[in-house]
Amino acid sequence: MAQMHNKLSPADAIWSLRRLPDMDDAQFSQWQTLLEHRTGITLPVERRSFLETNLGIRMREIGCSSYQAYYEQIVSGPDAIQEWSTLVDRLTVQETRFYRDPDAFRMVSDFVLTRPREQLKKRPLEAWSVGCSTGEEPYTLAMVLNECMNQLNLQPLFGVTGSDISKPAIEKARVGQFNPRKLLGMDEAMKDRYFRPAERNTVEIISSIRERVCFTRLNVLDLDKAPMHGMNIIFCQNLLIYFRRWRRREIVRRLAERLAPGGLLVLGQGELTDWQPPGLQKVPSEHVLAWIKRQTDEE
Ligand SMILES: C[S@@+](CC[C@H](N)C(=O)[O-])C[C@H]1O[C@@H](n2cnc3c(N)ncnc32)[C@H](O)[C@@H]1O
Repeated sequence: MAQMHNKLSPADAIWSLRRLPDMDDAQFSQWQTLLEHRTGITLPVERRSFLETNLGIRMREIGCSSYQAYYEQIVSGPDAIQEWSTLVDRLTVQETRFYRDPDAFRMVSDFVLTRPREQLKKRPLEAWSVGCSTGEEPYTLAMVLNECMNQLNLQPLFGVTGSDISKPAIEKARVGQFNPRKLLGMDEAMKDRYFRPAERNTVEIISSIRERVCFTRLNVLDLDKAPMHGMNIIFCQNLLIYFRRWRRREIVRRLAERLAPGGLLVLGQGELTDWQPPGLQKVPSEHVLAWIKRQTDEE
């Protein structure tokens, strides 16, 4: 097996031009199991070429010549943790944009605007974007909350947390600079209010919004270790679609535990069907899948 390193030697460079062999069924199944066990993501057989391509790119980068050798490197090699962290970023779908689901953000806005004013003045609103990718969703939440506070003539007392399994995605989110393509479809006045031109033809979020948003790396399978609790809004869209039904339910149950009484949980349309999470009340809506956590008797 070729040694793992970052720069290719001339011999490796010649080797890297060669095509990797096709992945056999047993190897595909081994990678499927590893990915699901560690992330919850199921890889259907139609995604086999996606797996082959992305493993192949990474293997070429580090000079590894067989899927089996790479698998062993990932599970028990000296740099296994570091290498897994790089690979998981390549195997997750990170597509996102600002205001991706306008109906869901309208629901967040209605939720805030109809809360008792005294409550909003007393305690900061806490929102959490789970599976936030490169940050567009949590920054949108921050803009929406800011708009609400302005409308209510209140101080911007709120905080947003974004979490994701991918370290590179979280690092990009923290920088807060985006390709203008990610703002497509956004209201022009909102763009003017919340973005400034930045280096290399990017735009950046204004600092008063950026400083209200923090990011952390978190695997949604490890929610029991997450410090978040008492959240007023939890947004989890376009993540559970990759998971099995039983696991979606399990995660929704755990997210519900992290909501404050009266808090709002928003998923993507169709991400949880035929099941009513205990302790939550469905918000009537044709276009948004959301629940409110029931108040307990003492509250
Ligand atoms: C398609 S993006 C969704 C981004 C955003 N929520 C949206 O709807 O625009 C899915 C994100 O989920 C993340 N993800 C996948 N598996 C995860 C896991 N087990 N724990 C946390 N995040 C995960 C991926 O890294 C990716 O950034």
